[in-house]
Order: sequence, then structure tokens, then C-alpha cells
Amino acid sequence: MIDLHCHILPGIDDGSKNRAMSLEMLKEQKKQRVQAIAFTPHFNFSRIDVDEFLEVRQQSYERLMSVPEVSELGIKFKLGCEIYFSTKLNDTELEPLCYEGTNYILIELPTDQRPYGLKHTLVEILNRGFQPVLAHVERYPYFTEDPIQLFDFIEQGCVAQINAGAILEGDKAALRYIKWGMAQLICTDAHNMKTRRPNLKEAYSFVKKKYGEDYVDWFDKNARDIFKGSYVDEPMLKKPKKILGIWL
Ligand SMILES: [Fe+2]
Repeated sequence: MIDLHCHILPGIDDGSKNRAMSLEMLKEQKKQRVQAIAFTPHFNFSRIDVDEFLEVRQQSYERLMSVPEVSELGIKFKLGCEIYFSTKLNDTELEPLCYEGTNYILIELPTDQRPYGLKHTLVEILNRGFQPVLAHVERYPYFTEDPIQLFDFIEQGCVAQINAGAILEGDKAALRYIKWGMAQLICTDAHNMKTRRPNLKEAYSFVKKKYGEDYVDWFDKNARDIFKGSYVDEPMLKKPKKILGIWL
């Protein structure tokens, strides 16, 4: 299994506080049979500029790699980030913010309202040859209330990610996105070892039981393709329909 969204780098965001905590989280990932991880600390244009962020991320990564037990785990690592959506993405060089060596870029959206310029910015990113991975899509009420908005972005080439924790909690939006073939990626978004811990194996087991092994293979293959920087297979989308006020 591969985890493409987690906050394990030490002392850089609201995830791991220090190297000891990062090591504990990585050991748990290993226990969960995770073989490769992309580290995706939060990046917000309003808080830090890109160059400074990349420097801070590199320092944090090096601090983590200086712990001998980390390499002994035999997990492959890649750097990435979780970018808080901004129309500034239109004027920013995207390559340094992508998952290392790929054209995939992890973007989180506001949870209150659909941001101004969302469609324009995502389409521009696609036109520039990059592929947005939309973080934890189950969290955005404007997509839950009108899933066609998300459906259209996926049809245009965006990748929709859902959180392992949401699946395990039985989050209705997350499960509907799986049912409609819209969810393409499951990640932990792990922040710590208590409330938001690494839990990919549990989520995959849940999906296997509820939807069957093909779904697990599909999620796993997508994660591998993105980690490698290959194209992900086109999703088998089932367009949501609103019947008597309910999306089915
Ligand atoms: Fe996150």
C-alpha cells in the first residue's frame, strides 16, 4: 500500500511535533504494510512563500532522515505538500509543489464555501499539464450538496482523494463517492498517533468487505501510478442523479 497524504514530517505543520513522533507514525505505517509514503505538509500562500516553504520542508525531511531507524524501516519516501487552494496557483511555478518527479499536485479546498476562481484555476492547472489531486473531497459541503460539481472536475482530469478515517467512520459522502466511482485514492491524512493516526490497512479492509477486492486493487493501483508519476486509469464513473431531493 502507498500513502500519498500525511503529516509525518516533524515540526513543520499541525502534524508530527518531533522526530520521535514521526518515527512512531512511520513504524505504524510499516505495521499497516505501507511500502511508500509521500510526505505532504500543509502549504498556504498566505502564510509563507514557496521558496521558504521548500527550504523548511527540506530541513524537516533531513532531520527525519538523520534518525537511523527511519531508513531501517525500508519504506520509500517522496516529498510533496498539501496546498491550500488559492488563485495564486495560476501565477506560481507548480513543479516544485508537485509530488516529487510527477505532475500530480495535492490541493485542499476551503470547507465553508466554494472558493472564487476554483473552476478557472483547476482547468488552468490541467491545461498547463499538471493533474490536481483534490484532498479529502468528502469534506466539502458544496460538493456533497451538488456532487455534479466534483463529477465534472473528475471528468476533466482531477483526481479525488478520500480519507481512510472518513471511510472507517462511515462518512456518507465518502461512501457515496466510492459508490459513484468518483473516489480514486484513499490516504490516511495522518497527523498523530491518537486522533488521526495511520490507518490505511483498516480502511482497505473495510472497502474489501463492503465493495469487494476489485475496489481495493483499483485504489492501490491509482496510488502506485501517482507515486510513480504514471497516468491513472480513467475512473468508471456513475453519474449521480437527484431523485426526490436525494442524490442516488
Ligand atoms: Fe492533510
